[in-house]
Amino acid sequence: MSRMITTVCNTILDTINFAATMAKTAKNGDIICLSGDLGAGKTVFAQGFAQGLKISQQVNSPTFTLLREYTGETLTLYHFDLYRLCETTNKLDYDTLENIGFFDYLGIDGVCLIEWAEFAKDFIPKNAQWLNITVTTNQAREIQQLKP
Ligand SMILES: Nc1ncnc2c1ncn2[C@@H]1O[C@H](COP(=O)(O)OP(=O)(O)O)[C@@H](O)[C@H]1O
Ligand SMILES: [Mg+2]
Repeated sequence: MSRMITTVCNTILDTINFAATMAKTAKNGDIICLSGDLGAGKTVFAQGFAQGLKISQQVNSPTFTLLREYTGETLTLYHFDLYRLCETTNKLDYDTLENIGFFDYLGIDGVCLIEWAEFAKDFIPKNAQWLNITVTTNQAREIQQLKP
């Protein structure tokens, strides 16, 4: 049975630190799926995660590129943003994902972090970790994490 763990992040720094801590135990092949509204903090989470992987490059939203690749000290980060692919349909089909090479990245060496992963949820491997970010106040967020 899976359970939901909720973490309250009262400031951006809390979110950054939460993600950075998670990154410290990340390993090759990990898939981290982020859901939550526009402006929830998925990209902020990615920035914290990158910090935890000791990535020195600036992590930006990959909305217009779909994917950005960053090289960390020991792990490569593949940062996806599926928003642009699904903003009109709210759902992605297999062919669209296949055409962008999405499946080539899942399970390869490195960590995949996917913003708007819920739009591709039928095609995401079962071993993926799911996090949902909810806006509670201007400064605060709640991160729900599904634990196996
Ligand atoms: N506790 C918090 N955690 C994360 N972001 C926060 C927090 N409080 C305020 N913010 C703001 O919310 C916005 C989140 O934006 P972003 O990470 O780009 O969202 P998304 O990628 O989910 O669309 C940023 O402007 C950030 O400054
Ligand atoms: Mg984003």
